[in-house]
Amino acid sequence: MTTTPAENIEIRSYLRAEEERTLADDVLDGLTRPFKELPPKHLYDARGSELFDLICEQPEYYPTRTETAILRERGDEIAATTRAAELVELGAGSVDAKTRALLGALSEAGTLARYVPVDVSESTVRASAAVVAGEHPGVAVHGLVGDIERHLDHLPDPVGPRVLAFLGGTVGNFLPGARRRFLRDLAGRLQAEDHLLIGTDLVKDPAVLEAAYNDAAGVTAAFNRNVLTVMNRELGATFDLEAFEHVAFFDRDRQWIDIRLRALVRQWVDVPALDLAIDFRAREEMRTEISTKFTRARVEGDLGAAGLEPAAWLTDPDGLYALTLARPR
Ligand code: SAH
Ligand code: AVI
Repeated sequence: MTTTPAENIEIRSYLRAEEERTLADDVLDGLTRPFKELPPKHLYDARGSELFDLICEQPEYYPTRTETAILRERGDEIAATTRAAELVELGAGSVDAKTRALLGALSEAGTLARYVPVDVSESTVRASAAVVAGEHPGVAVHGLVGDIERHLDHLPDPVGPRVLAFLGGTVGNFLPGARRRFLRDLAGRLQAEDHLLIGTDLVKDPAVLEAAYNDAAGVTAAFNRNVLTVMNRELGATFDLEAFEHVAFFDRDRQWIDIRLRALVRQWVDVPALDLAIDFRAREEMRTEISTKFTRARVEGDLGAAGLEPAAWLTDPDGLYALTLARPR
């Protein structure tokens, strides 16, 4: 754990050596399975976080701009309902227009005292903390560099009513069982006066969905392949980035975008840190991420199973994306 005190800013990190171990364990476990797969959090080193920000600017990737528009439109309502003294943002990423819209609305309502960004990407948490402290001098910032599935016990004690925000549709990156477990864990952390604000991308025309994950500029493909660079750097692996292609398609039965890397030819990849050689058949795929698309019933079902009840369903005029404000039942 490291702490960086500065006026108004405190950053605590719970990753480092321990996290390198997690990557090694995930590679050993995930890439020796009959169907290879890796958890998506390893996509987000400093370069991966930059590439994600670039994805958000692609014309095909509608979720970010749609969620921003909803927050700009309905931020006041969120502030009035929650009267939040604290915004805890899970998987916060960079301070962007939507973080600003939410912080702006809570600040305007006069209730906001602290912002707590939580992310595995240390560079992102540090940058966000500095930006928010500069833009909201009266607001304390407590950044937590850690894994939202393992380190939420390290959240600081609340300073008043809290909003736990999980934006961007990142909840859709969990497999269904893990999603339910995670929501239950979050619900258990809410006091009676707290709220969860959760962003979900909605089911729509598969062509629109598939275009969002196959942008013409190839940014999503570069983001996806970045996990190979991460394994090469951290574990000394010998992945050839040119030997894998990006694959993203909508699985209509499971209602998620399935994101994979496909080996173009038969190949062996060495992972010296694990004393492991991985065999890829020609055209064999490994899953690097899923991105689940929701209906209102699915969101409410998940929240209900976690012991939460919806307080507001906020969507855009085209029904592309939804934010749900929920509270303990
Ligand atoms: N909330 C932002 C960023 C979404 S990208 C937005 O809506 O635009 C997903 C973010 O979650 C990344 O910044 C990534 O680093 C972070 N992340 C992914 N898995 C995580 C995990 N297990 N724990 C903490 N952060 C995680
Ligand atoms: C962070 N998460 C919600 C993004 C998504 O749309 O599932 C990650 C992403 N992967 C490829 N493009 C965007």
